[in-house]
Amino acid sequence: MEDNPRFFDLVGQVRAMRRLKPDPVPEDLLMKVLNAGVQAPSGMNSQPWSFLVLREAEDKQWFAERYKAAIESRFGGFSFADEDDSPLARQFRALQYQMNHMQECPVLLIVCGLRDWPFKVPEAERVGLAPPNYGAIYPCVQNILLACRAVGLGTALTTMHQVFEEELMERFQIPVEYGVVVTMPIGYPMGRFGPVRRRPAEEKTYFGRWGNTTS
Ligand SMILES: Cc1cc2nc3c(=O)[nH]c(=O)nc-3n(C[C@H](O)[C@H](O)[C@H](O)COP(=O)(O)O)c2cc1C
Repeated sequence: MEDNPRFFDLVGQVRAMRRLKPDPVPEDLLMKVLNAGVQAPSGMNSQPWSFLVLREAEDKQWFAERYKAAIESRFGGFSFADEDDSPLARQFRALQYQMNHMQECPVLLIVCGLRDWPFKVPEAERVGLAPPNYGAIYPCVQNILLACRAVGLGTALTTMHQVFEEELMERFQIPVEYGVVVTMPIGYPMGRFGPVRRRPAEEKTYFGRWGNTTS
C-alpha cells in the first residue's frame, strides 16, 4: 500500500488551538467534520457517541461563565510573569484566552457518550450511574481533531465541564443515559497550526519486557 505523506504531516500539526475567530463555521463543513468523527471504531460497532452543537450566543455565554468559574476554582492561584516565554507559560496564557473568549467561538461542540460499565467492574458493584464509555468516544474525538485540522478549523479538546456536568446536562436536556465526554470550541484559528511538541515513540517503547529499549 502506498504511504500517504500528507497524513503524516497533518497528524503532527494537530495542536490545541485556543484562540479562535468569531467568524461563522458553515453547517456543511461542520457536518463534514462530524462525519469524519463517526468513522471511528467502537466496541461491537455500537457507535455510542452523540453530538450537541451550540451556536446561540445565550447558550455559549451560559457555558462560558461556568467554564471560567471552573478553571478559576482549580487554577486561580497560578500566574506567570509577562516575560516568561516557557511552553508552560505560553500554554497558560492560551488557556486564559480561551477561558475569557469561550462565548465568542462560533461553534461549541458537546460530545456525549453512552454510559457503560467497564468489563472489570463486577455486576454486584454496578451501583448508580456508569461512566460514559470514554474509550469508545476518544477515537471519534481524535478523528474530529484531525478533520478540523484538515479543513482549516481550529479546536481544543476541553474537559473542565466535568465540574458542572449535572447543570450542563439539565440545561441542554441531555438524557441520563449519556455523559458529557469533551467540549470543543470550534472556529477558524487566529494563529498558525504549527508542529506539536512530543517525545519520540522510541523513548516511549519497550520490547518484550518493560524497560527493554532494544528490539
Ligand atoms: C484527556 C484530555 C483532556 C484535555 N483537557 C483540556 C482542557 O480542559 N482544556 C484545554 O484547553 N485543553 C485540554 N486538552 C488539550 C491538551 O492540553 C493539549 O493537547 C496538550 O497540552 C498538548 O498541546 P498541543 O495539542 O497544543 O500540542 C486535553 C487533552 C486531553 C487528551
